[in-house]
Amino acid sequence: MGSRVLLLLVALFAIVSSIALASDPSSLQDFCVAASNSPVLVNGIVCKDSKMVGAQDFFFSGLQKPGNTSNALGSRVTPVGVTQISGLNTLGISLARIDYAPWGINPPHTHPRASEILTVIEGSLEVGFVTSNPDNRLITKILQKGDVFVFPVGLIHYQKNVAHGNTIAIAALSSQNAGVITIANAVFGSKPDIPVDILAKAFQLDKTVVVNLQSKF
Ligand SMILES: *[C@@H]1O[C@H](CO)[C@@H](O)[C@H](O)[C@H]1NC(C)=O
Repeated sequence: MGSRVLLLLVALFAIVSSIALASDPSSLQDFCVAASNSPVLVNGIVCKDSKMVGAQDFFFSGLQKPGNTSNALGSRVTPVGVTQISGLNTLGISLARIDYAPWGINPPHTHPRASEILTVIEGSLEVGFVTSNPDNRLITKILQKGDVFVFPVGLIHYQKNVAHGNTIAIAALSSQNAGVITIANAVFGSKPDIPVDILAKAFQLDKTVVVNLQSKF
């Protein structure tokens, strides 16, 4: 009988522990304002003494300022995550402003720890994301000012300015530290390089094309 109960417990534990958390773990107190100078390592950042916490810890100013889009992509992301607001620690959310010059792109990338909900506050965007294997279906839409679009966690997505002037978007993310993997930079700009023969076979390209791509990132 005892071994049956044990078996049941093991089975239950297996079921419960297989449920993956889709966003940051929830907070066990009102807040846990990041004490970024602490030498203690935890999953996240250790908490500042709550008696020393004030409005400044939950505040950021500057998103009215346009990001500098004078770069090869013609876009700029201004993040407001736990690095900018220490009070975001353990809360599982963050924000970003994205500026796009005419025809500028936010290149294909993924957020390993967050879904994203984006709204256009000025201009117009072509957006898209690709579903996982085996379908790899592209889901794409043109967004106007006021439109909102969702990029599910982990999926490769991008935006392109299709307005005649500048475009501005605000994105909210389901992590205090969503992380960004820009596909081109991660694949062709890793340090050190991924061996050329591996990329040549993976992308079905001539090795000289791979070397050329690697020289650009
Ligand atoms: C924007 O970035 C470019 C390239 O880095 C730089 O030359 C320029 O001075 C910057 N403009 C402003 C307003 O900061």
